[in-house]
Amino acid sequence: MPDTCYLAPSILSADFSRLGESIRQVEEAGADWIHVDVMDGHFVPNITLGPLIVRAVRQSTALPLDVHLMIENPERYLVDFAEAGADHLTVQWEACTHIHRVIQEIHHLGCKAGVAVNPGTPTEFLREILPDLDLVLVMTVNPGFAGQEFIRQSPEKIARARILVEEVNNAAIIEVDGGITAKTLPIAFEAGARAFVAGSSVYGHPQGAQAGLRVLRESLHQHV
Ligand code: DX5
Ligand code: ZN
Repeated sequence: MPDTCYLAPSILSADFSRLGESIRQVEEAGADWIHVDVMDGHFVPNITLGPLIVRAVRQSTALPLDVHLMIENPERYLVDFAEAGADHLTVQWEACTHIHRVIQEIHHLGCKAGVAVNPGTPTEFLREILPDLDLVLVMTVNPGFAGQEFIRQSPEKIARARILVEEVNNAAIIEVDGGITAKTLPIAFEAGARAFVAGSSVYGHPQGAQAGLRVLRESLHQHV
């Protein structure tokens, strides 16, 4: 299992009227990746943003863009997101009939490939495709909205994902997304997560995003 940890602020909770500045803030505060949540109003009830905004984000930062596609038929849009500047393309397992082909296409486009699993989807379903995965994204809330509470069964699920990763592809990074705070981050870390997406706890911090990120980093340092 990789030792390096990654903090990935989610711009879903940023101020979109000053998006560039919101991204630069977290970059200065030591963010490792920028997480971009794409929602289509079908796979999830919410609608957020598309390749146009990803291109604008790309122009605002040199950090890897961790693009999370919560959309149906993601294969139709992979080229658009890759050309817009995505570095990681993560699709939802539940949205892909031909998941193996989708992963091949993501790699063919020169991006790292991730697959996200909803809270009700066992990570065991990733076994056959895991040799080809760079990221295993364990959803720790039901996708669709920021500001939800970390689902309490998540640590056991992350731990099962860790066993699977150690068995099949030790290079894959286990990422968690949803309800990550200074309280839940160390729990997810202990269970095996190494990449942490955080929206509300970064951009919703009363002292600002840089303080929010600092608090998360400190909660991690107490554990490494
Ligand atoms: C949820 C999104 C998350 C979201 C996390 O559907 O995939 O990335 O931005 O937000 P918080 O950290 O507020 O739970
Ligand atoms: Zn996300």
